Amino acid sequence: MLCEKEIVARFLETDLLVAPEVVQYIRDQDDPALIDRIIATVPSGAFFVSPECIQAEKKERDGMRFLADPHLKVLQGKDGDCGCIQDFEEYVTYFRNRFTRLSSVLKGRVQPVPIEALQRTGRYRDEDVSFIGMVSEVRSTASGNKMAELEDPTATMRVLFNKSREGFEEAEKLLPDEVVGVKGKLSSDGNIFFADTLVRPDIPISHAPIHSDQPGRAVLISDVHVGSDTFLEDAWHRFAAWLGDHPEIGYLLVAGDLVDGIGVYPGQEQELVIKNIYEQYRAFGRMLSTLPSHLRIVLAPGNHDVVRGAEPQPAIPEEFREGYPDNCVWVENPALISLQGVHVLMYHGRSYDDMIGMIPGASYCHPEEIMEEMLKRRHLAPTFGLRTPIAPAERDPLIIDPVPEVLFTGHVHISGIKKYRGVLMVNAGTWQSQTAFQKQMNTVPTPARAVVLDLRTVDHEMLDFSQPGEPVRLP
Ligand SMILES: [Fe+2]
Ligand SMILES: [Fe+2]
Repeated sequence: MLCEKEIVARFLETDLLVAPEVVQYIRDQDDPALIDRIIATVPSGAFFVSPECIQAEKKERDGMRFLADPHLKVLQGKDGDCGCIQDFEEYVTYFRNRFTRLSSVLKGRVQPVPIEALQRTGRYRDEDVSFIGMVSEVRSTASGNKMAELEDPTATMRVLFNKSREGFEEAEKLLPDEVVGVKGKLSSDGNIFFADTLVRPDIPISHAPIHSDQPGRAVLISDVHVGSDTFLEDAWHRFAAWLGDHPEIGYLLVAGDLVDGIGVYPGQEQELVIKNIYEQYRAFGRMLSTLPSHLRIVLAPGNHDVVRGAEPQPAIPEEFREGYPDNCVWVENPALISLQGVHVLMYHGRSYDDMIGMIPGASYCHPEEIMEEMLKRRHLAPTFGLRTPIAPAERDPLIIDPVPEVLFTGHVHISGIKKYRGVLMVNAGTWQSQTAFQKQMNTVPTPARAVVLDLRTVDHEMLDFSQPGEPVRLP
């Protein structure tokens, strides 16, 4: 194999400097004639061989006319971004940050008066007025109305949403700790606020998703659960073979529950074929090593993975990455990834367990409906203190900002796709067939599915690898 020094020296002989990426590419190809071919394509007068100079070579190698180079950037949730939990007083800072940032999103549509000012002076009584608050409590009244307590940094206010008002169904979906704006009237004694309108931070109606100007495709999957006796190995092999036949796919994103883990639920060891956590990760690493080496593989953790459950979850630690190919990118949960400029927000989706219980009509069968609720609240896990543990931080990393082109989640093992105000919402399902627990709960998963995302159109197609033969394109 050509060594780095030899490659650099060959270029220097013709007065050319060479980019490290080009040197690496030549080393990977191990083809001595390649250097002369590249030199022949360098424009006269140029003194530097940049990665662009080898595009033609790469296209020829992959047999594709318009293969875009994978271009990936982790914008939020980089490995090492989230620190350890230091001090529980940080929760005060955390919630203040949530309130401040979501209020600023609301301020274009709500002209808020601080709650303390509403209560202190008689000026606002019986007048149309607005304020912004974080929901500290919400309940139904005996007459079927909704009573909420909203809090801002100055004071708290009781707010009544009357069931006969238009838009009451939105008030029925109020969740503790979400930040909302309300418009309405204050009672004559100033103690209660009668809401006419509820305003959520939401996605702007004018939101126009950005498309890549280059061709490119990404595949989105989640919940592989390697190590479980219900992991669908045959389907995975079909998927791996299919990826090998599709060099136009530049990226593979995996949104958590990479392995089944150990001790995640009582009696799990009876359902494991790999009972050692290191072995589970090694097995997944071997699976990824057989995939095309040009793929950029983004790996985020989920609640079955080896990291802490509190969100943001750190990236899988180094000690579990042994044997993984170099093309893996390890990120936190959540993480915002730019693929050729298209922003994909990856979130495993633990908060489904909380939101489904609190939003009337919500169900595990329709994860896309819950993703829409996340987007409306501009928050991935609005409610604190239930099943989704949240780590305190100076800045709330679960706020959806900026608005992504794609919101990509997993966790529920049921696929679902929908667009909301231009944002494509994807849940790709799982690679695990029905578990004993899901049988008890009457949950029917949709396994062995992958979603192909076209970065130039931000359009998708869902493929089903569960049956032998070619994958089935689902409607
Ligand atoms: Fe899972
Ligand atoms: Fe999960």
